[in-house]
Amino acid sequence: MCGIVGFTGKTQAAGFLLDGLERLEYRGYDSAGVAVLNGGSFGIEKTTERIKNLMDKTDGGSKLPGTDGIGHTRWATHGAPSYENAHPHTSSSGKFAVVHNGIIENYIQLKDELKADGVNFKSETDTEVIPQLIEKYYEGDFLSAVQKAVSRLEGSYALGILCTDCPGTLIASKKFSPLIIGLSENANFIASDVTAIVSHTKDILYIEDGETAVITPDSVKLYAADKSEVKREKSVINWDIAAAEKSGYDHFMMKEIMEQPAAVAQTVDSRIKGREIVFEGLKLDAEMLRNTDRIEIVACGSAYHAGMVGKYVLEELLRIPTNVDYASEFRYRNPIINNKTLTVIISQSGETADTLAALKEAKRLGSHTLAIVNVVGSSIAKAADDVIYTWAGPEIAVATTKGYSTQLSVFYMLAIWAARQLHSAGSERIERLFDELVRLPELIERVILNEPQIKEMAKQCGDPKSLFFIGRNIDYAVSLEASLKLKEISYIHSEAYAAGELKHGTISLIEEGRTVVALACYEQLFEKLLSNIKEVKARGANVIACAVEGHTEVASEASQVIYIPRTDPLLLASLEVVPFQIYAYYVALYKGCDIDKPRNLAKSVTVE
Ligand code: G6P
Repeated sequence: MCGIVGFTGKTQAAGFLLDGLERLEYRGYDSAGVAVLNGGSFGIEKTTERIKNLMDKTDGGSKLPGTDGIGHTRWATHGAPSYENAHPHTSSSGKFAVVHNGIIENYIQLKDELKADGVNFKSETDTEVIPQLIEKYYEGDFLSAVQKAVSRLEGSYALGILCTDCPGTLIASKKFSPLIIGLSENANFIASDVTAIVSHTKDILYIEDGETAVITPDSVKLYAADKSEVKREKSVINWDIAAAEKSGYDHFMMKEIMEQPAAVAQTVDSRIKGREIVFEGLKLDAEMLRNTDRIEIVACGSAYHAGMVGKYVLEELLRIPTNVDYASEFRYRNPIINNKTLTVIISQSGETADTLAALKEAKRLGSHTLAIVNVVGSSIAKAADDVIYTWAGPEIAVATTKGYSTQLSVFYMLAIWAARQLHSAGSERIERLFDELVRLPELIERVILNEPQIKEMAKQCGDPKSLFFIGRNIDYAVSLEASLKLKEISYIHSEAYAAGELKHGTISLIEEGRTVVALACYEQLFEKLLSNIKEVKARGANVIACAVEGHTEVASEASQVIYIPRTDPLLLASLEVVPFQIYAYYVALYKGCDIDKPRNLAKSVTVE
């Protein structure tokens, strides 16, 4: 999320900042801004349009003279995209300017504390507490004020900070958000990734979590959280621009697959306070939940598949009848809903035309609408009664991966939170589920380790005429997503079936050598799925199976088995989808397909 650049040097800063921000555009953003220190005050310019607009406004940077500057592309999290919410943010006196990437989880508490001190806030962002805190602690020592301020921050941050008292000094600090320092003869820089600086230098100094850097035009000093100085050798990178944008991956899709542990952690951790799940500002409460006699989940594409998993999870824990529908069907079927229906709308982009129309229809019929959305300030986020954001960060590849995974994690949190309000599930079960939810990023990380095996399987897949996915219960919901991933990017015909439905028609398509991917992770129905595997195998199918660790009996039926770690069955989808995202990726790669931009598809479908 977001992009940061910073410069302190012997030449003008603005040109570097604008160029760097333009190179960070690929990360996705909704607003941007720069601040340049000049003669004891900041020249600041922002835009809610493209970086090009910032260039026009500043006459290519020449209207912002000065040799120290910071810049930012914002991907809104707290507060809609707007001029006021765009970075850089300044302290009340204008002495400090800050750009920030990450999420400050305790910002409400800090904001209340600062307001009680008489501080007025200009934006709705979590970031603005940072310059205000630095100002609170400033007694003439810039570094010490920054260190005191960051010690109060919970959550994630990468920061670039300037102070009007200290020309020629840029301070950077980092925890759980990306930030690097670039070194050159006449200037030193900071940036979220090497893309922004690779055309200026290949000499990089890595700053680690918890460290703060004091950067001048000809020196960089790193300090640990305990204020001791840290010595680190510079690294030399040999990436070109294209590789840098994708953090070294060949495609955004693979980069985003690999980002899933972090994206899920970001989505979950920011809602966990002790053992509680807290959704800031949610209007849905225990009374409304008690009044709810039905849940309708409405979405398109992969978001619909996340909703299928959500149905299993919500029904199991809340015992409230839950229905899932395609937005394009829901909006025209005259749905029977009323003020006792909770409608959950899911959309990564927040702009899908059918989903937005379905949301409006649900509202018109009196239903409370809760949107699960990734893009802050998007049309769906604005139109819904309640929003829970997924913190996946910008997703660039058309085929969603981390968007889907973070939607699942919101469903888990929502279900646990609501079950606690309604006392609708055993507390021991809920507590165990909570523990497993917290472990999810680590478990996804373990599944990703199977990449070499999956790559090899994909190599053997070749280019078949057709392929089938089967599963039961949550395994079936994941089959739909796994099948969609494959067909979207590899153009191989693929279908997903509820395994019990095979006998009602589809089994006629099974012939010698046909690949059937059997998802056999849902333990309660494992034996039944094993029977289905035997049925297709008896008709010549080549079976690839996915099972939880320990279920080795499947290996005697399948030609290949991918094992995933054991977890609560309700969380399985988050683990078993990952191998098939990777599988789809490599099958498409070996076929030579345009993975990030598959033919005929769009990332956001804003027409009906
Ligand atoms: C398009 C995308 C899919 C996505 C679907 C719904 O088809 O290619 O990846 O799942 O739209 O998009 P949304 O932004 O509403 O989640």
